[in-house]
Formats: sequence, C-alpha cells, structure tokens
Amino acid sequence: MTKRVAILISGGGSNMVSLARAMTGDYPARPCLVLSNVPDAGGLAKAADMGIPTAVVDHRNFKGDRHWFENELQIALEAANPDIICLAGFMRILTPEFTAQWAGKMLNIHPSLLPKYKGLHTHARALEAGDTVHGCSVHEVNGELDGGQVLGQARVPVFADDTPDDLAARVLPMEHQLYPAVLERFAQGDLTPIQLGEA
Ligand code: GRF
Repeated sequence: MTKRVAILISGGGSNMVSLARAMTGDYPARPCLVLSNVPDAGGLAKAADMGIPTAVVDHRNFKGDRHWFENELQIALEAANPDIICLAGFMRILTPEFTAQWAGKMLNIHPSLLPKYKGLHTHARALEAGDTVHGCSVHEVNGELDGGQVLGQARVPVFADDTPDDLAARVLPMEHQLYPAVLERFAQGDLTPIQLGEA
C-alpha cells in the first residue's frame, strides 16, 4: 500500500525536494503535504511548484505556548491524513506528548553521526573534536531530542582545513541520498539500517 507522507520544513527544503523527487513510479510512498512553521520558507514555493499541497502553522502566533502550537500542527496534519511524517530541516523542538501521537511513524534527518552531536552546530562540534569522519543520520523520532532508532547513516571525510560550511556542503548531498533510501525501506516496514558513503 502506498504510504502518504507529510514533510515538515522550516527553510529551503532541499531534503523535502529530494524526498519528493524520489516518490515516483513504484516507490512505496507519495507526498501528501509539505508544512512549515515559517510562512515564507523557501521550500513551500518549491513544494507548490511540484504540485504538493502546502500548509503553514506559524509558531510565532502561539506566543511560546508549545502545546497550543502543536495542537494546531496536529489539526493540519490530521487533515492530510499521513501515514508517515518526515521532519526535514524542521527547526522546532517537539514535545514528547506530540511525538508520542506519531510513535513509529515519524522520521528526522540530523547532520551528524548520531549519537554524536545531538542538537545544533554539529559541523563545528565535529571539527572542534578533531573528528576525521562526519556525516548524517536518519532516525525515528521519539521523545528525546535527536533520539530514537537510527535507520541510516552516511559518512564523509573531514579534512584538516575544513570550515563548518565546507563540512555542511559535503554532508548535505549525502542527506539527499540517505533520506529517500531510508524512507523507501521504512514505508515498506523494513527497518534494516542503511550505510552510505565512505571516509
Ligand atoms: C540540513 O542540514 C538538515 O540536516 C538540517 O537542516 C538543514 C537544512 O535542510 N536538519 P533543508 O535544506 O531545509 O532540507
């Protein structure tokens, strides 16, 4: 059965575009909604150009009331009736109460080799640590920030003169390969981890 996928973004949506482009032919999923917490997120226009329904739930309208925001988010999501939710550059932290409603149905892509560097500024932290390998992870979302079972990782080498931007630019294309590959398996109920890249 082809799964319906809602994709949540906050910015340019390059991962959303990669996912949407992959969801064709006999791929076991199709995008049913692209939703952003940012009204002018660049990814919304890209989604509309691809014929994907879009929605906005602007977190600023809820004045820091996280549960009120998430209630509106839930209403917008339920209207699209997704089987799977993909967080793709979605920059709001979701409460355990919200993520529990989508347990086993929500994925996120994070720009580090989890469990290393949960949270922000992952590339700078990898450089500060002197890592020689870095990358990205797709994981199931649970109540812990960047927690949950890792379903795939992609590795890239780190070079001595790398800046955080250099590293981000090397990781991002791997994100675009990894996320569609993991979603394809996940949509078929296959949680076998995927490993991409070499370093
Ligand atoms: C990416 O680095 C992703 O790992 C992080 O958000 C960044 C931007 O993603 N979660 P996108 O271009 O908006 O998909």
